[in-house]
Amino acid sequence: MKKASGGGMPRIRIVGGHRLNGEISICGAKNAALPLMTAALLTDEPLTLRNLPRLADIATLSSLLTHHGVDIEVNGTGMANRGRVAYLHAAEIADTTAPYDLVRKMRASVLVLGPLLARCGVARVSQPGGCAIGTRPVDLHLKGLQQLGAEIELDGGYIEARAPNGLTGGHIVFPFVSVGATENLLMAASLARGETILVNAAREPEVQDLARCLVAMGAKIDGIGSDTITVQGVDRLNGAEHAVLPDRIETGTYAIAAAITGGELMLRGAELTHIESFADALRAAGVDILADDRGVRVSACNGRVTGVDAMTEPYPGFPTDLQAQFMALMTVADGAAMVTESIFENRFMHVPELARMGANVTLHGASALVRGVGSLTGAPVMATDLRASVSLVLAGLAASGETIVNRIYHLDRGYERVEEKLAACGAEIERVRD
Ligand code: UD1
Repeated sequence: MKKASGGGMPRIRIVGGHRLNGEISICGAKNAALPLMTAALLTDEPLTLRNLPRLADIATLSSLLTHHGVDIEVNGTGMANRGRVAYLHAAEIADTTAPYDLVRKMRASVLVLGPLLARCGVARVSQPGGCAIGTRPVDLHLKGLQQLGAEIELDGGYIEARAPNGLTGGHIVFPFVSVGATENLLMAASLARGETILVNAAREPEVQDLARCLVAMGAKIDGIGSDTITVQGVDRLNGAEHAVLPDRIETGTYAIAAAITGGELMLRGAELTHIESFADALRAAGVDILADDRGVRVSACNGRVTGVDAMTEPYPGFPTDLQAQFMALMTVADGAAMVTESIFENRFMHVPELARMGANVTLHGASALVRGVGSLTGAPVMATDLRASVSLVLAGLAASGETIVNRIYHLDRGYERVEEKLAACGAEIERVRD
């Protein structure tokens, strides 16, 4: 962003206490765009993706796909809710190794494993890193691919996968719900011989979006949106054009921005049906949230919100990716809220930072007891993962005085122009270097 001056690390500076009012355009979903981009590896024809967000994670995956031999061309400005258009063309796969240097930046890189293996019969992918939330293994991805006939070895930090005679259909029962494993298996099964049944599959809208794009590419998939998905493998997939669905996590994040400042926002292009559990929690807290033909309208002009319990669960439950933001809201609620994280271990790194701003939060295992305080006070804080960092921005919007959020490279992984979008609605927020 050009506003930054000096040569230091960029930070976000916020002076809290301004009510937000206005309109924010919601981008295409990061967590849909990433698997959709890897689907380009499945075909030698071009895949066109519309409504692609402009994010560091998208650039990271573009570098990896380019390394594999995908030609990528991007047009469009990313403004005004139309997003960018990307043309991804994997005429030939140039390299079946996803190297450490490209994979370590982002865990979702492991999504190249299924497509590369299905198309080339071989893939070598560095074991992923990503946000520091729990241990986050990829065992379900690997077990599932083994059930499709892949031979897998772990060697020197790499996953070495082989299916010299191609993949064959299988019956896979996931012991628990995994978004990424469901996506990897969906893509691999689309090019396997015969039928694959995925039981206890993830139902997240982003998984459904990937499945719909695969169908447009010629895949035969039944049960999209349910927890049992059946895939009849085909010999080859073709190119297609697909629009990335709106980002429900960005939607929820800006809904909290309205709520925490007692303001009103129109979230243009957002889809309320993708965040029903979250919207129910907001309503219970006293926030108005409803759909209209332009998107989702959120209003919290009736005074303070009240404390509401929430527990994260696989879709359609309350999303783990909105837990930190919801907790920021609960820190200033009337009364107490119990916020329970059931998806990830160790996803409470925002708690000590919120406490530095005056929040009263007690951690006990997977639950956080949040006792609402009258107000927060601005402070220098540090973000440790993507959603934790945006929760600190939200807290800063409500806090009195100045908040400086450090280490904002996490924010840029998942939020497009966050400070511009908030400033346009009345927030005092800027990106600074000092
Ligand atoms: C995706 C999202 C992430 C979101 C998460 C849960 C993307 C790019 N990221 O991540 O933002 O927070 O879904 O909604 O879409 N697990 C295993 N073994 C595996 C796979 C997962 O133990 O092989 C565990 C994870 O450590 C975690 C839980 O299962 O505790 C759910 O993870 P999963 O649904 O796979 O998340 P991701 O696909 O990594």
